[in-house]
Amino acid sequence: MSTASEFKDKITLAVTGASGSLYALRLLECLVAANYQVYFLFSSAARVVFDTEVGLKLPGSPEAASAILTEKFAAKPGQIQVFGKEQWFSPVASGSAAPKKMIVCPCSTGTLAAISLGMSDNLIERAADVVIKERGQLLILPRETPFSTIHLQNMLTLSQMGVTIMPLAPGFYHKPQGINDLIDFMVGRVLDHLSIEQTIMPRWGYQIQPEK
Ligand SMILES: Cc1cc2nc3c(=O)[nH]c(=O)nc-3n(C[C@H](O)[C@H](O)[C@H](O)COP(=O)(O)O)c2cc1C
Repeated sequence: MSTASEFKDKITLAVTGASGSLYALRLLECLVAANYQVYFLFSSAARVVFDTEVGLKLPGSPEAASAILTEKFAAKPGQIQVFGKEQWFSPVASGSAAPKKMIVCPCSTGTLAAISLGMSDNLIERAADVVIKERGQLLILPRETPFSTIHLQNMLTLSQMGVTIMPLAPGFYHKPQGINDLIDFMVGRVLDHLSIEQTIMPRWGYQIQPEK
């Protein structure tokens, strides 16, 4: 098992049952490549979406899921740690041990609502609540269309508390050649926002220019 000091930092990545499994997998890949230790949480609905969208069958057992993801992304031992929805003794459940950075991607409207109300009824909701109370950096990437007034109000509530709301809405000015370029647009923006070095998406004003 690698020691925590082997890693640059630690971060929590939570995946819920909204569409967009590819974003979550690419984020995990980039965080591993950036030598972050990732506490990885996923909801029951996220397992269904992973299977539906990319054919990934994540086991319900956190240990088995950790092993599959560690192999898939060639992560160091202990670099990807999966916690189940009622693992209340995991580091993400307490401000004394939780990473100060957390991403919820993709975020369902259900989890969005639960976080905005501080429900803390499962580990994803509790981990988000902890980051908010500790005044850490919480990035929420909702996916739904159209947004209802309920969704918009929940986003406003969270934004007013300092949470960053980043809808999964990639731009097109980098001239995407396919789905992977659209995924990288969003993943690059998330990493920039968290000050995690990335080279997958050029920043505005560098390689992105109008055609002559
Ligand atoms: C294939 C699939 C795609 C879904 N896409 C979305 C979506 O884009 N946005 C959303 O809010 N819910 C979506 N849902 C519904 C959520 O999964 C459902 O509301 C679930 O209760 C969310 O639970 P969770 O927040 O615990 O993951 C989808 C469900 C499935 C099976």
